[in-house]
Amino acid sequence: MTARIFLLGLAFFAALPAQQTVSGGYIGSGTCRLCHPDTAQGFNRNPHFRLPALTPEAPGGTACEDCHGPGREHFEGKGDKTKIVRFPLQAAADVIDRCLRCHAKDIGKMEFRRSSHATAEIGCVSCHKIHQAPEIGPLLHAAERDTCYGCHAAIRARFDLPFKHRVNEGAMRCSDCHNPHGAPQATWGGSPSTAMVRHAFGNDTVCTGCHADKRGPFVYEHEPVRVEGCASCHNPHGSTNARLLNRPAVFTMCLECHNNVIGFGPRETGIPAPGASFHNLREPRFQNCVTCHARIHGSNADALFRR
Ligand code: HEC
Ligand code: HEC
Ligand code: HEC
Ligand code: HEC
Ligand code: HEC
Ligand code: HEC
Ligand code: HEC
Ligand code: HEC
Ligand code: HEC
Ligand code: HEC
Repeated sequence: MTARIFLLGLAFFAALPAQQTVSGGYIGSGTCRLCHPDTAQGFNRNPHFRLPALTPEAPGGTACEDCHGPGREHFEGKGDKTKIVRFPLQAAADVIDRCLRCHAKDIGKMEFRRSSHATAEIGCVSCHKIHQAPEIGPLLHAAERDTCYGCHAAIRARFDLPFKHRVNEGAMRCSDCHNPHGAPQATWGGSPSTAMVRHAFGNDTVCTGCHADKRGPFVYEHEPVRVEGCASCHNPHGSTNARLLNRPAVFTMCLECHNNVIGFGPRETGIPAPGASFHNLREPRFQNCVTCHARIHGSNADALFRR
């Protein structure tokens, strides 16, 4: 910051009281702009540009200071950096508090605070960039998936597998399934956390929002579809197996549960194994279970899901 700009600011400040009311250590966005022309430039395209109009009652009511706090000491200290809120240096919890003052309506406060992002001390500005954000998405550091991959590199590889949801191709976004701000439910399927998975239709799993035919209710439900959830058989990101299945051979997946082992299943009497008198599992035709049990997600006609 050059001395010339600083002096300009000083001159402006001298003239301030005549131009606008300042109180509580606020100096007004106009003053910030004088010394920070680069940052202020283009701010009129930022959704936060509307702040002065929307929050007239705020002390100062001046966009810049709504986020950065009162700037008088910063100004009087000739741009003393320690006297102004600098987001990258703030603890995640402080950033979250500051942003949620205004965004608690669109973002469930409790949901966010419970989310694995907040508990891992990921604050709002780890994903969001307020100034000069690229024109993609809602003020993110980069295109959404690249913002996520910045920390979740391993997930990118899953979306490059032969069978996948086409996130890397731009046909879908992480946020179609996840709410990065946290999810309201306590758990997701069999996983111990919410995995921040969204809901469709009130309380239903997000998957049925697009795959509506899997939603049910069916006269004959296949228990794991509703209880453990889709991920008990599918990898939601990507897989080397067709249909995003967790295992290359369908029957190995079925037999993980259908093996009569006591202690599992709705009555803990074991989940019934395919009866050996009929199923000859050495015969190849019995190995692709879904050629016969074709309505594997549930059926309205047959308790054994064959039609
Ligand atoms: C919605 C909150 C918010 C508002 C409003 C806001 N800022 Fe910022 N500012 C931030 C955040 C967050 C950062 C950290 C970098 C980023 O996200 O771009 C930042 C960074 C800065 C920086 C550091 C340099 C830079 O460009 O990254 C300056 C200087 C700055 N802001 C000045 C201003 C001025 C001047 C205004 C008013 C025109 C303003 N800010 C309005 C949140 C805000
Ligand atoms: C009189 C000039 C002047 C005014 C007015 C001024 N600043 Fe600054 N500001 C500076 C200088 C100089 C720096 C230090 C820049 C540096 O060292 O890179 C600075 C630094 C900052 C930083 C930290 C940037 C960083 O790199 O971390 C922020 C944020 C900031 N100012 C925001 C504001 C806001 C918001 C306002 C209005 C309330 C404001 N400034 C008003 C001169 C000013
Ligand atoms: C003083 C109130 C206030 C504060 C503090 C604030 N915002 Fe905002 N924010 C707004 C308003 C108002 C809008 C515009 C909303 C609209 O147009 O519907 C907005 C818009 C946004 C958007 C764009 C939403 C969209 O629909 O594209 C994002 C992202 C955002 N804010 C993030 C943040 C972050 C991150 C912080 C903290 C660094 C923050 N905001 C601090 C009031 C605030
Ligand atoms: C892990 C990354 C991440 C974090 C952390 C994060 N966001 Fe977001 N945010 C996103 C993404 C991605 C979107 C766009 C997708 C969507 O609408 O859900 C978004 C959208 C938004 C929007 C506009 C859409 C809406 O839901 O209203 C606002 C406002 C917003 N974020 C504010 C915040 C605030 C405030 C915080 C901190 C309390 C925060 N974000 C933390 C990634 C994040
Ligand atoms: C700044 C780093 C960072 C960014 C950016 C980020 N995450 Fe995370 N994410 C984490 C950390 C840390 C955790 C918690 C530890 C873990 O599970 O890896 C986490 C956990 C998660 C989880 C697991 C939740 C659970 O409860 O099991 C999901 C889902 C997730 N992130 C999605 C996203 C999405 C979607 C985006 C992009 C919008 C994103 N993340 C961006 C760091 C980040
Ligand atoms: C088709 C829906 C869908 C999309 C798209 C999606 N996810 Fe997921 N993701 C899920 C589900 C469902 C789970 C929970 C899986 C489980 O319970 O086994 C999950 C789990 C996760 C986890 C935690 C468990 C793990 O595998 O590490 C992270 C992190 C994650 N997703 C990040 C992302 C990121 C980043 C993107 C975008 C690049 C993304 N997801 C896109 C549905 C999706
Ligand atoms: C936003 C819509 C959307 C959501 C949400 C969604 N999917 Fe998909 N899914 C698709 C589309 C579109 C395809 C087609 C594949 C493509 O894009 O090439 C697909 C393909 C699939 C396939 C492979 C189908 C085939 O014929 O090979 C499976 C399995 C699947 N999804 C399961 C899931 C699961 C499980 C979830 C929840 C974790 C989910 N989907 C969430 C849109 C969605
Ligand atoms: C018990 C294991 C299992 C569960 C749980 C499960 N699926 Fe499937 N799913 C399969 C099998 C096996 C196939 C392959 C069927 C075939 O090849 O004919 C399949 C195929 C699919 C397909 C592609 C073919 C079609 O029928 O459209 C989609 C989409 C799909 N599943 C979505 C889902 C969704 C969404 C959920 C959760 C609501 C779910 N699945 C739960 C086993 C399961
Ligand atoms: C995550 C565990 C799980 C997986 C994987 C699974 N099932 Fe099931 N399945 C169950 C449970 C639990 C029941 C209900 C059993 C009961 O009521 O005793 C059931 C019921 C059935 C039934 C109805 C028969 C009956 O006794 O009620 C058939 C047929 C069936 N499954 C076929 C399959 C096939 C074929 C696959 C592989 C594509 C498969 N299942 C994968 C858990 C699973
Ligand atoms: C050729 C068609 C066909 C194939 C392939 C097939 N099933 Fe069956 N399945 C049936 C018929 C028919 C019944 C009813 C048998 C009866 O009434 O005795 C049945 C019944 C069942 C039952 C209920 C318990 C029982 O034996 O009556 C389960 C569980 C089951 N099958 C699972 C599987 C699994 C797992 C596979 C793959 C390893 C599989 N089935 C492959 C046709 C098939």
